[in-house]
Amino acid sequence: MNQPAPANGPSRAIAIACNVGLALMLGVSFGACSKYGCQSTHLPESTGYTLAGITCALCLAMTIVATVIVVKHLRKESSAANILGLVATLGIGVGSTLATPFLWIMAASNMPNLGSFGGWGRPLRIGRRAITPDVKASSEWAKGPRPRVEGLDDETRSVLADLWLHDARKEHASVPAFGQVAWQLVALGAPSDLVRRAHISCLQEIDHAERCFALASAYAGHDLGVQAMPELSAGGAALPVDRTRALVKVATEALIDGALLEDYNAELAKTALCDVKDAAAREALTRIVVDEAEHARLAWDIIAFCLDEGGAPVSRALSETFARYGNNAESLYDPDLVRRVDALADKTPLYAHGRIRFEMAQPVFQLRKTAAGAKLAELLGVRRREHTGVAA
Ligand SMILES: [Fe+2]
Ligand SMILES: [Fe+2]
Repeated sequence: MNQPAPANGPSRAIAIACNVGLALMLGVSFGACSKYGCQSTHLPESTGYTLAGITCALCLAMTIVATVIVVKHLRKESSAANILGLVATLGIGVGSTLATPFLWIMAASNMPNLGSFGGWGRPLRIGRRAITPDVKASSEWAKGPRPRVEGLDDETRSVLADLWLHDARKEHASVPAFGQVAWQLVALGAPSDLVRRAHISCLQEIDHAERCFALASAYAGHDLGVQAMPELSAGGAALPVDRTRALVKVATEALIDGALLEDYNAELAKTALCDVKDAAAREALTRIVVDEAEHARLAWDIIAFCLDEGGAPVSRALSETFARYGNNAESLYDPDLVRRVDALADKTPLYAHGRIRFEMAQPVFQLRKTAAGAKLAELLGVRRREHTGVAA
């Protein structure tokens, strides 16, 4: 009597299923990272870390199972197909096991904190980074009143040149930043008043940049301007296709970049007006104080528009974004430049030429963050009462 044939080793179907599973896990985590990563609408941290752990364990298990099966087949028959199968299994298995937890953690990452002082304008966000232009010798942007530099020693003058150049680059970056805002407002169907004010803000940032480049050029002893910004060629104003997510993005960026940071920097610039003696520096600071405060008001109006349009999801994202923002005034200045400022025996000439006292950064930030928090709570409370029909 014939005996049944012995099982022909573990099934290739299981190995193939494991590989398909690994590819799916990788695809889903990549999609989640693209959709939620570094956004104000990111996944909750607990969800992201839990999914990272689960997918890592599953990927590892499937990799081991598929590899064992393929190796057994390879021992029986060292064909090219089996060798290729082993290489593919190891490649997709190791790749998925390493990449999926990273992608889920990224999907739970909040949008980046772009610092808090050292920029008299709205930061220019391109993806995860805030960028500024590189500098070149040029008179194209150095258009404004020039300071009196007589009596300044070489180091003080060099420090003043670098401090004002830092501000000039930030101001210049604010020009395309408001270009982004205007573009996004139109994309969302915002009223003409908001779009007009975004464009006016753009022109005001050009004025600030020209004044700061003129100041920096005078202290440096030669004209300074900007290089091209190829990073902008690929865009940077894109919004999520989903309208609610687009409103969340515009609202939360307006909250941090405009309502909080532009207001804060306007108040910080105001403190420098107490000490400034140079006429050109005073004129620049005065313009900055007035315009940046208006930019903060525009940001609040953009937030109100987004709340009206997006409702509860926008409200939740605003509360969460504000709660996550740090309580410390983080400097955007190059640490080396800060050390050079600290090393100056006499800082009076810096203040006479319009520079802030760094020690004012933290107390002013605390005051302005508290004020912004109160204003946000009031705005959200009013919208909630309107929504539920409860009288204020
Ligand atoms: Fe601004
Ligand atoms: Fe500005």
